[in-house]
Amino acid sequence: MKDLVAFSISALALAESAIATAQVGSSVTTALGSFELTKGAACACSKLSRAYSGIISPSSANYTAQAADAYWDVRANLSPACIFLPSTADEISRALEIFQTCDAQFAVRGGGHMNYPGSNNIDGGVLLALEKFGKVKVNAESVEVGPGLTWYDVYAALEAYGRAAIGGRMKTIGVPGLSLIGGFHYFNNKYGYAMDNVLSYDVVLGNGTQVVTNKTSHPDLFWALKGGANNYGIVTKFTLKTYAIPKVSTTIQVFNESGIPDFLAAVCGIAKLDEEDPIAAGMVATVQYNATAKVASASLLGVQEGISRPPSQFANFSAIPATTRINNVTTIRQWASSLDSPKQMFRVMFSHKTMKPDQDALISIYKAWKDAVDEIADVEGLYPTFITNVAPAGAARVALTNGVGNVWGLEAEPYILWQFSTGWALAQDDLRIEAWSRELIERLNTINIEKGLASDFIYMGDAGEWQDPFAGFPAENVARMRAIKASYDPLRVFSRLNWGGFKLNV
Ligand SMILES: Cc1cc2nc3c(=O)[nH]c(=O)nc-3n(C[C@H](O)[C@H](O)[C@H](O)COP(=O)(O)OP(=O)(O)OC[C@H]3O[C@@H](n4cnc5c(N)ncnc54)[C@H](O)[C@@H]3O)c2cc1C
Ligand SMILES: *[C@@H]1O[C@H](CO)[C@@H](O)[C@H](O)[C@H]1NC(C)=O
Ligand SMILES: *[C@@H]1O[C@H](CO)[C@@H](O)[C@H](O)[C@H]1NC(C)=O
Ligand SMILES: *[C@@H]1O[C@H](CO)[C@@H](O)[C@H](O)[C@H]1NC(C)=O
Ligand SMILES: *[C@@H]1O[C@H](CO)[C@@H](O)[C@H](O)[C@H]1NC(C)=O
Ligand SMILES: *[C@@H]1O[C@H](CO)[C@@H](O)[C@H](O)[C@H]1NC(C)=O
Ligand SMILES: *[C@@H]1O[C@H](CO)[C@@H](O)[C@H](O)[C@H]1NC(C)=O
Ligand SMILES: *[C@@H]1O[C@H](CO)[C@@H](O)[C@H](O)[C@H]1NC(C)=O
Repeated sequence: MKDLVAFSISALALAESAIATAQVGSSVTTALGSFELTKGAACACSKLSRAYSGIISPSSANYTAQAADAYWDVRANLSPACIFLPSTADEISRALEIFQTCDAQFAVRGGGHMNYPGSNNIDGGVLLALEKFGKVKVNAESVEVGPGLTWYDVYAALEAYGRAAIGGRMKTIGVPGLSLIGGFHYFNNKYGYAMDNVLSYDVVLGNGTQVVTNKTSHPDLFWALKGGANNYGIVTKFTLKTYAIPKVSTTIQVFNESGIPDFLAAVCGIAKLDEEDPIAAGMVATVQYNATAKVASASLLGVQEGISRPPSQFANFSAIPATTRINNVTTIRQWASSLDSPKQMFRVMFSHKTMKPDQDALISIYKAWKDAVDEIADVEGLYPTFITNVAPAGAARVALTNGVGNVWGLEAEPYILWQFSTGWALAQDDLRIEAWSRELIERLNTINIEKGLASDFIYMGDAGEWQDPFAGFPAENVARMRAIKASYDPLRVFSRLNWGGFKLNV
């Protein structure tokens, strides 16, 4: 697969019109696959290379680094016709004008963590990679950040000021994707989701026009970007609210199989906590199952605002006999520094549903999942995890009271988002894993529906590509999102030419 055929962008640049007709329709083999050169891509790649240097083609040395190595899920590796790394909003405006003129398909990548093919990469189209947008500017109570940054970069920039932003929990997740889809952080219970903490977005619209949206400037678009994902434009700067959080109290706890029921009960406890004057606290709570060794374990990565040690909010976890327990007081940057999620880790399928916190039901789901994993134990490289994320009432209350809201429209009720994140090694197992994961989650969710425990809410960051998050938002919010889309993207650039990711059907 390493034989790159001649596909020279400099040749394309010689005579745009000749190329647009001459090579169109030919098949191009890349290090990662192949595609058929379309008229739109030939036109756009040619125009881009005449306007800018550094356009990466399938024969460039950096092609694989951009089209594969920058992605978390191996399935997301695709073969773009060319790759552009813009460094200014003007360059993005120009690129969007070119895509429109050429009728060219394109994809946009921020941190590259969305885990399915097409959400952030493209076969035969143009890939815009935003990594050059790396500026950070720290203000007194906010921080301006470019979409080329990871959350670690943001926490690192704020550390010296004793402040923190509400972003991702792991080190290398991208700022743009997570902010645009919602954003689960440790401190949601007190400060809301990442999207609720965006004060302003600089956006390039589909026709290349640049707008600044905030509470008073284009307030409708400002609202729609709070959970509306990549349906409206390309964000070139986020201004995020920051909080004085110089220190955090952390806990890492690992439990063997005997501890898992109490662990899941404690997760329900954290979801239900709803104090008058809340202490910001939250976690990553994961159950792993090794289907070869038939051994399950659970892990808690808990973080709480302040220096009370051990962190008081995790007392119900701390009461369970653990195989490992490490408490510390540190900074959010230091904590995040060890939580890497290496790129190109494996192939991964996400499936998720939402429920009211009910410990018996959650424990039954865990047991059913473990039994079902045994049925696919022969899959090469199998890496099954059962993940729970909490959505406490306090997290929803922020949007209900800040005069802006967000597209989710969640009521102030506690929920648990439960997810199967299943890794595997070989492409030949793609269909098997997807079918297994979908069937299992739908079957178990049906039981929750019968018990009156299920919610229709679906988070884009935890969902499989086969799921429809918009179906779980309030219908009036989706109608409003569509109306805003009609006024800001009347040419439907972000549905017709940019089709990957979670799209409103318009
Ligand atoms: C290991 C791991 C850990 C995670 N942890 C968390 C977590 O703690 N909390 C949480 O909420 N979620 C988490 N997620 C989900 C994560 O938020 C999403 O995958 C998110 O999309 C990642 O953002 P990104 O910039 O890295 O993604 P990308 O894949 O680069 O982008 C995601 C989507 O946004 C679009 N996009 C990117 N940049 C822009 C832009 N500037 N303008 C417009 N559209 C853009 C892309 O085209 C794509 O459709 C996690 C995911 C993984 C794999
Ligand atoms: C290609 O990669 C090299 C080494 O990482 C880097 O110096 C160079 O700027 C890259 N070229 C482009 C066009 O991104
Ligand atoms: C909103 O953006 C506009 C346009 O850039 C700016 O003039 C105004 O000061 C901003 N308002 C707030 C509250 O940030
Ligand atoms: C701990 O468990 C008790 C008993 O179930 C519950 O009342 C309490 O709210 C829980 N506390 C936390 C912090 O989850
Ligand atoms: C699962 O257990 C087997 C057998 O004990 C071991 O070889 C393997 O490394 C384990 N897998 C993981 C992912 O820990
Ligand atoms: C699980 O861990 C606890 C705490 O270390 C220990 O007491 C118990 O024996 C372990 N149980 C099993 C089945 O290994
Ligand atoms: C505890 O925090 C200190 C201070 O940030 C840090 O140097 C140390 O590495 C941390 N220890 C662990 C085990 O995380
Ligand atoms: C671009 O689109 C926006 C939103 O629809 C519109 O307000 C603006 O006038 C358009 N600009 C041009 C140059 O057409």
